[in-house]
Amino acid sequence: MPVIAVIGAQWGDEGKGKVVDMLAERADMVIRFSGGDNAGHTVINSLGKFAVSLVPSGILSPGTVCVMGNGMAISPAVLLKEMDGLAGRGIDFGGLHISDRANLIMPYHRLIDGFEEETRGEQAIGTTRRGIGPAFADKVARRGIRVGDLLDPVVFRDRLAQVLEYKNAIITKVFGGEALSLDDIHREYCGYAERLAPYICETTRIIAEAIDRGDEVLLEGAQGTLLDPDFGTYPFCTSSSPLAGSSALGAGIGPRRIDAVVGIFKSYCSRVGTGPFPTELKDEMGDLIRERGAEFGTVTGRPRRCGWFDAVAARFSHRVNGFSSIALTRLDILDGMPSLKICTGYELDGKAIDDFPSSIQSLERCRPILEELPGWTAPTSDVRQRDALPPEAQRYVDRIEELISSPVSIISVGAAREQTIICRDVV
Ligand code: IMP
Repeated sequence: MPVIAVIGAQWGDEGKGKVVDMLAERADMVIRFSGGDNAGHTVINSLGKFAVSLVPSGILSPGTVCVMGNGMAISPAVLLKEMDGLAGRGIDFGGLHISDRANLIMPYHRLIDGFEEETRGEQAIGTTRRGIGPAFADKVARRGIRVGDLLDPVVFRDRLAQVLEYKNAIITKVFGGEALSLDDIHREYCGYAERLAPYICETTRIIAEAIDRGDEVLLEGAQGTLLDPDFGTYPFCTSSSPLAGSSALGAGIGPRRIDAVVGIFKSYCSRVGTGPFPTELKDEMGDLIRERGAEFGTVTGRPRRCGWFDAVAARFSHRVNGFSSIALTRLDILDGMPSLKICTGYELDGKAIDDFPSSIQSLERCRPILEELPGWTAPTSDVRQRDALPPEAQRYVDRIEELISSPVSIISVGAAREQTIICRDVV
C-alpha cells in the first residue's frame, strides 16, 4: 500500500482538504507535515461542512490515524478550540498523535507577527498574523519551544524563562510593546499540556511501522508551492516549506518511501495576501470568479485575488515537486464563462520567456501571454466521467495537462466528496 503526498501546487487554497478527505476514506493514516493554523482546509462530506486548520483532514474519516508531524508549528489554544468544536460534532480523537518535535506557537509569536507586519508598512506580506513566521524563525534560530517540552513543567518553565527574556527585550525595546508575563504564559500552557499530553508522542516510529505494515499513508500538504520560502515569491511567502520534498522531512520519513505525489491545482489561480501574481484579474472577470468561487480566506475571511490559470507557474511547480499526477479542482466554477484564458508564457521587458523568474522584481514586470479557449455552458457538477464533460471543458483540462506535462488523475466539480471525476489511480 502506498505513501501519497498531496501538495498545494499554486498559492494555497487549491482545495487540498477535499482531495485529502476523499483519499483519506481509504487511507489508514494521514500526516500533516508543515505549517500551522495559517492553513484552512474546508471539507464537505456526509457528516457536514468542516473547516479545519491544524488537525489533519483525515480526522473526519473514522478509524484513520492522524499525525501532526514534526514539521508543524502548533498553537495549543487553537488546536484545543478546534478539537472541542469537532468533538461537539461527534468527531473522535482516539487516533490523533502529535509529534513531540513539532514547535509551539507562543503568545509572543503572534504579537511579533503583528508588530512586524505593521512596521513593514506598504511592504506588508499580508500574513495571517498567527505567529507562523516568528515561530519557524525561532525554530531555526534554536530558540523554539517544542511540543515535547510541555510534558515537563520544570523543563518548560526553564526554557520559557530563557526565551522570554529575549522576546520581551524585542517586544519592549524594538516595538515599544508591553512585556509578557512568565507566570501567565506558564500557567496558560500548563493547562494546555494537561489536555494535550495523551496525544503527544514520538511519532516517527508509529509512522514507520504503519508504512512497514503496508498501510496506506497520506502526507497532507498545507499552503502551496508558490508560497515556499525557497521557490515561492520570496519574501511574499510563508515560513515553512509546502513542497513534496519537505513532506518527508516534516513527517520524519525517508524520501524513498513516498510512492506518489499529487499536485493540487485550482482550475484558475487565486492568492491571498500581497506579492506578485502575473495572471491576476483586477476587473469584473476577477470579481466574477471570486463571487462564484466564494474566494474568501478560510482563516482570515480576506477576499482572495483571482486570475487565469498560470501554466508557467504550474510547470515550475511540477519541476520542483515532481508530481506523479495532478488533481484539478473547482472546474465547475468556470461553468458558463463565455471564454477562458490560460497563461502559456510571460513577456518580460519585451522578451517572451517560459520560465517562472526567481526574483519578484522580474515577476512583477511579467505580462502574461494568454491563450484563449472557448467556455462551456452545461453545468459540470453532476458529471462523473472525464469524457462526459462538455467538449470545451475536456479541451480545457487536456490543454492544462499538456502544458504541465503531468497526467490529470482527479477532477473536482463541486465541494462534496462525490462531486469528483476519477481519471486514473493516483499511484
Ligand atoms: P503566514 O504563513 O501567516 O506567515 O503568511 C504568509 C503568506 O502566506 C501570506 O500571504 C498569507 O496570506 C499566505 N498564506 C499562509 N497560509 C496560507 C494558506 O493556507 N492559504 C493561502 N495563503 C496562505
